[in-house]
Amino acid sequence: MIRAAHIHDIDQLEEIENTSFTSDLISRRQFRHFLTIGHASLFVWDDGGHIAGYILTAFHSQRTAARIYSIAVRQNDRGRGIGAALLKAAENDVRDKGLAAITLEVRANDENTIRLYKRAGYTPTGQKQAYYEDGEDALRMRKDL
Ligand SMILES: CC(C)(COP(=O)(O)OP(=O)(O)OC[C@H]1O[C@@H](n2cnc3c(N)ncnc32)[C@H](O)[C@@H]1OP(=O)(O)O)[C@@H](O)C(=O)NCCC(=O)NCCS
Repeated sequence: MIRAAHIHDIDQLEEIENTSFTSDLISRRQFRHFLTIGHASLFVWDDGGHIAGYILTAFHSQRTAARIYSIAVRQNDRGRGIGAALLKAAENDVRDKGLAAITLEVRANDENTIRLYKRAGYTPTGQKQAYYEDGEDALRMRKDL
């Protein structure tokens, strides 16, 4: 089931992060910040205490669009639709908050994830050069809700 994350999930969130990404990792401290200070929504897929994945959305007070900050699913849990379901939960949350659009960045060569977003209705709006710490470009995408 999908539920809002809480501070007790932080060990598993950190574990998912460390095993899903090799650069631009969200630190434990940043997760704590997002969970306590706000301006963000963090949802997890919880299988009886096993957190299979998470999605983090960031909100800026000046903007009418929210931003998908990160999404990750544990390697062994991928390909079961968890990523797509988390994305839907994040979109519902953004809509509930009265915002009209979502933007995101994805690695320009990550065809699988780009396909996931396209299928969910996101369209490319541009490219950002050397966006990631390892120098890779990002594709910017957007969905109007
Ligand atoms: C991107 C990510 C969150 C998707 O999560 P997921 O739960 O696998 O997503 P879904 O199951 O909803 O869909 C994944 C797509 O990959 C396919 N897939 C199948 N097996 C897969 C596997 N073992 N691993 C990855 N994708 C797989 C799915 O079938 C689907 O594509 P398709 O419908 O065209 O076949 C996940 O792959 C991930 O954590 N990647 C590493 C972190 C990352 O790159 N995040 C995105 C940038 S922030």
